[in-house]
Amino acid sequence: MTKYVGILTAGGDSPGLNAAIRAVGKAALGHHRMQIIGFRDGFRGLMENRTMRLDGGELSDILTRGGTILGTSRDKPHRMPVGGKLKDMTDVIAGNYRDNHLDCLVCLGGGGTQKNALRLKEKGLNIITLPKTIDNDVALTDVTFGFDTALGIATDAIDRLHSTAHSHHRIIVVEIMGHRAGWLTLGAGMAGGADVILIPEIPYDVECVAEAIRARSRTGKNFSIVAVAEGALSVVEAAASENKTAAPGAKKPEKGGEGEYAVRTVRLAKKLEQLTGLEARITILGHLQRGGIPSAADRLLSTRLGTAAADLIAQGHYGVMVAARGEGTRPVKLEDVAGAVKTVPADHPWVTSARRVGTCMGDL
Ligand code: F6P
Repeated sequence: MTKYVGILTAGGDSPGLNAAIRAVGKAALGHHRMQIIGFRDGFRGLMENRTMRLDGGELSDILTRGGTILGTSRDKPHRMPVGGKLKDMTDVIAGNYRDNHLDCLVCLGGGGTQKNALRLKEKGLNIITLPKTIDNDVALTDVTFGFDTALGIATDAIDRLHSTAHSHHRIIVVEIMGHRAGWLTLGAGMAGGADVILIPEIPYDVECVAEAIRARSRTGKNFSIVAVAEGALSVVEAAASENKTAAPGAKKPEKGGEGEYAVRTVRLAKKLEQLTGLEARITILGHLQRGGIPSAADRLLSTRLGTAAADLIAQGHYGVMVAARGEGTRPVKLEDVAGAVKTVPADHPWVTSARRVGTCMGDL
C-alpha cells in the first residue's frame, strides 16, 4: 500500500530546512515509493489546507537554499489566531490530516513545534518531527540543524568586529540570538575569541565584566569584544525576573521581543562605558544568523535526519523526533522532548574551556 506523507515547517526559519525537506521527500518518493505533500506556513497552512506539490522538480535545487520553500509561521494548533481571536483548531487540523489520507505528518521545528506535534499525536495523528533551530536548545538530540550555519555567521561577525575594536580602542558588544539557551553565543564567542561571553544560564555581574575589561587595558589591550546572548541577564535583572514570575498569580513572562533584548544590550554597553572609560559600540546580529546558504555540516545533518524520518515512516514508527546521535540517528519519544529545553550546564566542557583561555563569563 502506498503511504501518504504530509510535511510542514514551523517556528523560526533556519538554514537547513530545505535540505531536510529535500531529504524526507527524495527518500519517501524515490526509495520508499510513497507520496508526499507539503503544507504551507506551518500549522496555519495545515489548518487552512493550503498545500504545495512536492512530487515533481520542487525538491531539486533547494539543498543550498536558505529559509523554507513551504513558508513557516509561529501559529499553534490549539491557540490559532482566527477572526481576531485565539481558537483551538486542533480538530480542524485532524480533519484535514484525514481528508488528505495522510499516514504520517512530518513537522520540522524547534522546541515549540515539538510541543505542538505532541498535541497532534495526542489527537491520534501519526507524527514524526525533526529538530530545527539555530539556538540548538532542543532536548535529547546532539545538535539541531541550523546551529552550525548560525555559528559560522556569528563567528565571522565577531572576527570582523575585532577590526573596529582594536583600531578605536573600543568595547564592542555583539548581541547573538538565543533567548532561552546560550549555545550559539558560547560557541561563536569561543570560536571568535570574544573576551567576555554572557549567556542566559550564567547571570552576570556587570562590575565583574568591567573589571575583566579594565584588566585587559592594564596589559595594553585597551579593547574588548563582549558576546551577549539575547536572553542573558545581569544578576539584578535575573532576580527581578524571578520575583516577577514568583509573584502569586504572575504569568510566565512571554519571550521578550527584539526590543526588550536591545534595551538590555544598550544598557549593558552604557554601563561598561561608565565603568571602564572606554567607548562602547553595539552590533545586533539578529536575523542575519538565520539567513543564506546552509553550511555543509547542516546540509549533511538535515539529510541524515530527513532520510531517517522516511525510514521510520516505512516502518510505521510514529510519535517520535529523529534525534542526531553520534554519526547516526535515534527516534526519541515526543513526550520526552516536548517542553524540555537544552540549556548550557554551568560546568559544561565548553564553559570550562572558555574559562581556561581567560574568557570572562560574567561571574567571579
Ligand atoms: O528560535 C530561534 C530564534 O532565532 C531565536 O534565537 C530568536 O530569539 C527568535 O527565533 C526570533 O524569533 P522571530 O524570528 O519570530 O523574531
